[in-house]
Order: sequence, then structure tokens, then C-alpha cells
Amino acid sequence: MSSPSKLYEESGRIKVNVTPGRRLEKVSKEALAEPEKFWAEQARNLVWFKEWDRVLDWKPPFARWFVGGQLNASVNCLDRHVKTDTKNKTAIIWEGESGETRTLSYFQLYRQVNKFANVLKSLGVGKGDRVTIYMPMVPELPIAMLACARIGAIHSVVFSGFSSQALVDRANDAQSKIIITADGGVRKGRLIELKKVVDESLPSIQSIDHVIVLKRAGNEVGMGPRDLWWHDLMEGAKTYCPPEPVESTHPLYILYTSGTTGKPKGVMHGTGGYLTHLYATAKWVFDFNKQDIFFCTADIGWVTGHSYIVYAPLMHGATEIMYEGAPDHPRPDRYWAIVEKHGATILYMTPTALRMYMKYGDVVPNSFDLSSLRLLGTVGEPINPEVWMWYFKTIGKEICPIVDTWWQTETGGIMLSMCTGIETIPMKPGSATFPVPGVDAAVVDENGKPVPPGTKGYIVVRRPWPGMLLTLWGDDEKYKQVYWSKFAGMYYPGDYAMIDQDGYLWLLGRADDVLKVAGHRLGTMELESAFVSHKAIAEAAVTSKPNNTKGESIIAFLVPKEGFTHSDDMRTEIVAHIRNTVGPIATPDEVYFVNKLPKTRSGKIMRRLLKSIACGDKIGDITTLEDGAAIDEVKQAYEDLK
Ligand code: WTA
Repeated sequence: MSSPSKLYEESGRIKVNVTPGRRLEKVSKEALAEPEKFWAEQARNLVWFKEWDRVLDWKPPFARWFVGGQLNASVNCLDRHVKTDTKNKTAIIWEGESGETRTLSYFQLYRQVNKFANVLKSLGVGKGDRVTIYMPMVPELPIAMLACARIGAIHSVVFSGFSSQALVDRANDAQSKIIITADGGVRKGRLIELKKVVDESLPSIQSIDHVIVLKRAGNEVGMGPRDLWWHDLMEGAKTYCPPEPVESTHPLYILYTSGTTGKPKGVMHGTGGYLTHLYATAKWVFDFNKQDIFFCTADIGWVTGHSYIVYAPLMHGATEIMYEGAPDHPRPDRYWAIVEKHGATILYMTPTALRMYMKYGDVVPNSFDLSSLRLLGTVGEPINPEVWMWYFKTIGKEICPIVDTWWQTETGGIMLSMCTGIETIPMKPGSATFPVPGVDAAVVDENGKPVPPGTKGYIVVRRPWPGMLLTLWGDDEKYKQVYWSKFAGMYYPGDYAMIDQDGYLWLLGRADDVLKVAGHRLGTMELESAFVSHKAIAEAAVTSKPNNTKGESIIAFLVPKEGFTHSDDMRTEIVAHIRNTVGPIATPDEVYFVNKLPKTRSGKIMRRLLKSIACGDKIGDITTLEDGAAIDEVKQAYEDLK
């Protein structure tokens, strides 16, 4: 690697001793010339029971990869390693908020997964059955996921920061047979009573046969007739469970994510294509080697955790750190302390956490030995150039390249990023650089035509890639409509982007009603239905405004029902209602009570008008923004709300 001073120039460029873009350009060109051949080569890095007959079956917009092939995800993460000298290597270093540590070797993980797979089987779970997992960030969470994969069951992890309504909606949509949870989790020193949330939710979920409860926090819980303790079940479980060979196209999991419609969408990922995409991108982007200790700070409840805590690092036989807790509790130093303590070599975190840490200045990170780090990564939201610079200088000491990785729940794995495993190219703070090899991304205008350099447009993907979602659970029509109807023949992710003169890609935020609050993806309409589920609220409109730490904060405009007058008490009660139904991550920062909501003639809420009002923009700047709204309508609405 080149010397520190060579990596970065104030011009906004990183310099290294390679011809920028040449090796990457070559690999990417070859990949796009013969994508099927290229992806088949990547797929050969996995362990298959049976090789595929066809690399890609593309019936737009449905892509099926490695058709006829058979494999098992848990074999790729575990069995392949226990036959080699990786067997006794540490797979997971777990750390809790107060600094307690647990480690699991590949063999120990393998044993636990096999035993738990037998537990699930003994409860009647089989191939294709759905299992909802609502757990804190403890090793039993990946154990549960891999156990599902081992028997061909489909896991559906619900982020433990969500509350009962969110859990009910997701478990009902998936028609899960089992919920796996824990007595409680810990965050910011506080107990999160997960089992209690499950108990509240259960009467509204008819499909559940059993609830498996892990003893984690030690809090008192009531055990009903369907409830079983994890440790009791594991006690008698057999140590080996033969892996179920599943078709490459068999669903590995459902992960619910927010879109522009009221209900969360069940993004469904397959097995062979998804794992191929992850194996390849982890190799290219992070360039895992034997000595690496990978620290991805995401929660497994989101896609980053699924892909780059559970499946990718374990397939590679890497050692990884898994952290349960907040980045700033008990002190605003947790990530740095963990890097020092365990010698993390790669740190993959969010711009939100970086912005939070940056506020505390350099003294805190400078008091830790961060010299083990060799590579830094970010994900989840656009990163401001000044935050990028702070990461580069204060954390990476100007010698660690930064990979700004852009992707989505739907894409399965990283789509845009520098690929240090191929070559470290000149970097620009705030740019995700280029598509990874084999991904055909472009920036287009409203008509789907590529825009010239420097022009804002929509990012699209022009051909299928292996990590692409199979469909939305139980809703092919919605899948077509959400992702494939805006531009003919192109996947529409919903983000604005720009390509600069050098061909670098810049992501410019969401083009739709999806919010990114502290990196968490939330849909305005899902939040609105949570507001109107409160007895005093007739109508709700949710928007956001920029926030220096969280990226965006939630603003709600509420119309009270007849007979209810708004007050500070009501506001407090409604905020509590949102926290209890959706979860604390959805806490609104501002709540306004209004008599009516601004709507277009066709009845659509003028969210952008609301956003402009919340942001203090002038009326003149916004009159052209509202689709189908007459200027005087917008003006009237503005006056009504002012
Ligand atoms: C945003 C998270 C800018 C984007 C992996 C995308 C980003 C949404 C970046 C997906 C990035 C993710 N730069 N924006 N590097 N990475 N995003 O499904 O708006 O939770 O569409 O997946 O996050 O969020 P999701």
C-alpha cells in the first residue's frame, strides 16, 4: 500500500500507485461482455451439491440464477470450514454494551446451528416454512438464521427495535409458524422486553405454533402454553443435522422493508444467486484475508447485517465482531474501544454513527490504538464529504482507503463501491465510485435516457444481477409495479444520482417517500397508518427534514378527530403510541396539529409542500413541485398551515 501522504490530496482525490481505473475497467468490461460466464465463475467459489443447468433464466422482470443447481447456505458458511484448518478459527467475537465478550469458533457455531436445526425440525418446521426471528444482537440470532437455512426453512428477521404492530404485520404477511425471541435485550443500559412485545402481538398472529425464548437478559417473563425455552430444547438436541439440499432459486429469507406504500414489503431473496453476489462482493470490496477481523456495526435486523455479518464473512471463513448495544453507551467511544480491544482490521459503519462521533471531537478516538485498521467502509446513506474526511484522517490516519458502498435490501449485496480487492483507485469523498463488476448501472432522466455528466437523474440497473430479489413475498404484481414500471426494462431503486466528468457516481438521496432516519429505512405511509391507529387522529401526513446527526428526522402533520382537542399531553401520548407500535426508531421529532392536510385534486397528500414548510422554504420555490396541484391550491394549503 502507498504511503499516507500519497493516498489523499486536498483536491478531493486519493492517489495510489496504480493507473486509476485500469484493472477495474478491464474486469468490469469483461464482466459486462459476457455476464453469464462471469457470474458462473463467481458461483464456482461456493459449495454446490449439484451444479446448475442454466446460469440465468431471465423472464423479465423475474431473474432466476443457477437454475437446476442445488446447495445449502449453512454448508457454505460452516461445513466447508469445519473440514479445513478454519475449523478452530474464531468465527464470531461477540461483545455486549458493558464490555463482556463471548467467542465462537467455526466448529462451535457449526455445532450450535446443527443442534438448533434439529430443534426446529422436532417442532415440525420444514422446507419452505417461515420462521420469524425477533432477537437482540447475540450469537443465537445468526445461529437461528443458519439453522433455518440448514433445513430449508425461510427466515424472516424483524429488527428488535421494532414494536408490536410492526412484528404483527410482518409475521402475518409471512404466515410464520414459529417466532424465535429472547426474554429481553439491552440497549443504552435499558432492558428491552422482547418477550413482552411478542406476548402482546401473539393474539393477532394466528399462524404461530410455538414461541422459542432465549434466556438473555434474565428478566422475568411469563411462559404460556406455546412458549418453549431455547436452552431446554437445545439440551436434548442431536449434534448433527443433515443439510437440506435446496434449489438455487429456493427462498433463503424474507426481509421486510419500507417503500412508498402503507404496508412493508417482503423482499424475498433466493439462495444460489444471492450467496454468489455476496461472496464476490465481499472479496472485491473488502478483500478478506486470513488475518482480518471484520467489524460490521449494523444490526442483523437490517439487510447489511444479513449480508455482511451473517452470510458473506462466514462464507469466507473470516473472523468477525458482533456488537450488541449503542455506539455511545456508556461512553461515546464504543466502536473505537472495540477496534482496539479486538484488533479489528476492517470497520464497516454508517454515516449517522460517524456524525455522532465526530461531534465529540478527535480526543476520544485519538485515545485508542486504531492502528490495526486497514480498510474503512460506510453504508446506508450518503456520506457528507466533511464526515468522509474526518473518517479518513482521524480514524484511518490517512492510510486506510474508504469504501462507500451503495446498495439496498432489494439488491441483496453491494452494487456500487470501490473494490479494493481488485484495485484501490483514486477516491472522492462522498462518491460511491463505480458499479462493482457485472453490475450495469446508469443514471437516466424521466424518460429513461442517460443524462450527461453533472446532471441529476435516477439511478437504474439495466440488467439482472445475482443478488437481485426474487420477488416480493406473495405479491409479484407489486414487485413489477414498484421496481420495473417506472422505466421499461430497467430496475428502479428509487434514488437520485449523478455521474461526474470522471465517470464517478454520486448518490443524492431518495427520490420517493422513503425516509432514512439514522440509516434506518422507514416509509412515510407506514408511519402515517401508525398515527391514524391512535384513537384521536383522523388523518396524518409524514415527511422529514435534514438532521445533522441522523441524516433525516421525522415530522408529522396530524388532523385530530372531531371531539379531540390537541394539547401537549396529547402530543406526548401520540409519540408514545408510535414508539409502542412501530418502535423507538420512528419517534417523530416534530408533531404539528392542523385542521386539514394539503391535497391535490386527485386526493394525494402534498408531502413535498409539507416538507418545504417544515424546512422553512419559501412558497415560491415549491409551487412547481406538486404533481397535479394547481398553484392556488398549494398557496391555499400553505396559508392554511402557516
Ligand atoms: C440508501 C441499506 C448513499 C439509498 C444497505 C438506498 C445509500 C437505501 C448508500 C437502501 C450509500 C444505502 N450512499 N445512499 N452508500 N447505501 N443508501 O434497503 O437511499 O436499508 O436506496 O439498504 O439506502 O436502504 P436499505
